[in-house]
Amino acid sequence: MCGIVGYIGNKRLTSVLMDGLRRLEYRGYDSAGLAVVNDKGLEVVRCAGKLRDLEEALRLTPLDGAFGVGHTRWATHGRPTEENAHPHRDCTGNLVVVHNGIIENYVELKHELQQRGHAFKTETDTEVMAHLFEEKLKDHPLEEAVRLCLPRLRGVYAICVIAANQPKKIIAARNGPPLVVGLGKNEYFVASDIPAILHHTRDVFFLDDREVAMVTDAGAQVKDLEGRPVTKKVQRITWDPIMAEKSGFKHFMLKEIYEQPRAVRDTLRGRVSSETGKIFLEEMDISPEEFRKVRRISLVACGTSWHAALVGKFLLERLVRVPVEVDIGSEFRYRDPILFPEDLVVVISQSGETADTLAAQREAKAKGLKTVAICNVVGSMITREADGVIFTHAGPEIGVASTKAFTCQLAALQLLALHLAEVRGTLEPESAKEHIAQLLHLPVLIEKILQTDPAIEEVAKEYYRASDFLFLGRGVNYPIALEGALKLKEISYIHAEGYPAGEMKHGPIALIDRNLPVVALAFGDKVFEKMMGNIEEVKAREGRIIAVTQEGNGTLAKMASHTISIPKTADLLTPILAVIPLQLLAYHIALRRGCDVDQPRNLAKSVTVE
Ligand code: AGP
Repeated sequence: MCGIVGYIGNKRLTSVLMDGLRRLEYRGYDSAGLAVVNDKGLEVVRCAGKLRDLEEALRLTPLDGAFGVGHTRWATHGRPTEENAHPHRDCTGNLVVVHNGIIENYVELKHELQQRGHAFKTETDTEVMAHLFEEKLKDHPLEEAVRLCLPRLRGVYAICVIAANQPKKIIAARNGPPLVVGLGKNEYFVASDIPAILHHTRDVFFLDDREVAMVTDAGAQVKDLEGRPVTKKVQRITWDPIMAEKSGFKHFMLKEIYEQPRAVRDTLRGRVSSETGKIFLEEMDISPEEFRKVRRISLVACGTSWHAALVGKFLLERLVRVPVEVDIGSEFRYRDPILFPEDLVVVISQSGETADTLAAQREAKAKGLKTVAICNVVGSMITREADGVIFTHAGPEIGVASTKAFTCQLAALQLLALHLAEVRGTLEPESAKEHIAQLLHLPVLIEKILQTDPAIEEVAKEYYRASDFLFLGRGVNYPIALEGALKLKEISYIHAEGYPAGEMKHGPIALIDRNLPVVALAFGDKVFEKMMGNIEEVKAREGRIIAVTQEGNGTLAKMASHTISIPKTADLLTPILAVIPLQLLAYHIALRRGCDVDQPRNLAKSVTVE
């Protein structure tokens, strides 16, 4: 996944492009580059490494111009080198393209183009587009040249194209990864994501798949691949630009952990009534009648969002009494799922652009099912293809490790479960009101947990040198054990596994010795005694127990090496609280290990390729 910025306007071009790329660096950061058109023609500067390396290159060779594009890369084809960094040129050096996505048939296109005499300089798939456009540009204006070539491409792309001989014109096209067009005052922008341009304009529209935008110094026109004009709805983004900044925190991840009270509150705001027990879901194009017909629900997601789906299974089966299946996005379509038209598929995605989750949604739609998306990004592809959407109002999540989006996904799943319980009559109004009252109280309890951060940091000091971790949980908190393990492994690079505690004796118990920290989630629910038994088994083998439990659980405190307490709440709401200490534990351990917390190695914020 990569970051793209394009600009036409009167501000200092390279400043606008670099500022935009800096705000997109979380999308991919192994090489970067930019191209400008000025009175000398087309000039390009590229660098392997982080954006600061490009800044250094620009200091040595200053650039400016009337319009241009920039790109920060997460390599998919071709090593992260300067040569493979975008923008990529055609043979003449008159045209460049920047690209986010994968061109699956690039090898055959490259061969065909080489047969026609084109010389290639890079290992990338992207470069084939530069040469295709070059050929068409001989007889067409740039916007037509690009549009006529796109049907040749198989795969996904978000691109920007500029040419020295096509003044003040940026051509943008999308099929898969996101592209947003910003409409300023006599200045226009193209970007992969909103934070890149929010400081300049709040008025944007999102390109849809198979659309091409021509952005000039007079505005933006959009056509479909057949050349038919498309009218786009301009949206006003209400995010405060500061929300996309670190706001004084050392890392985006820490800021986002601390934003969770506000994020969960915003996700619930205006959607629940503790007086009546009613739920209000504004973007739900599925009628109560259709919801009543649902006989089975499939939850599909990837990574952390899949962990949210696993929690969702407990919520929906407990409150709605409907069977729920949970699938990993990358597996769903390849297992040829047996789906019935009255089934409901719910896809969960922070970015709304995860290729495997989007593909699962399309698989369900192709079989005539209704789909609901739980998502954090307005205008993202998954939300635009869903019949119903529950937006998590977490605000932009910049840290690669998902935190606030996860707890907001759990809150959104509560809303969905309560809504379905209401329309299907599976929850007494009094029970619904009580549940909602506890749900609305969660932000206060999250605040309380955040105040224990210093104690959690002390625990991190004790264990940050460990080479392995085991996380154990049961019932609705078993997915939280998985999530705690994922948080730790993806930012500290410590090998960590999450397991249902009951599974421990079927193998993982062999791992336990005095060097293995075991994080045990034990709350006063119906599996508490079983959980205590598992903790005894760990202790008997000298495992070092970090217990996460509810306030007042003295028994466990005596058994554990360290105890982290969280406030009591309803069993089905505990996961939203239990994950917070695990996020903080992972953060502090990673920090002590000197890891790049916001941009962990090998990872990207949104996996828009298979
Ligand atoms: C979360 O910490 C990970 N970075 C990753 O597993 C992520 O949850 C996964 O890629 C799914 O992303 P999505 O929610 O945007 O679809």
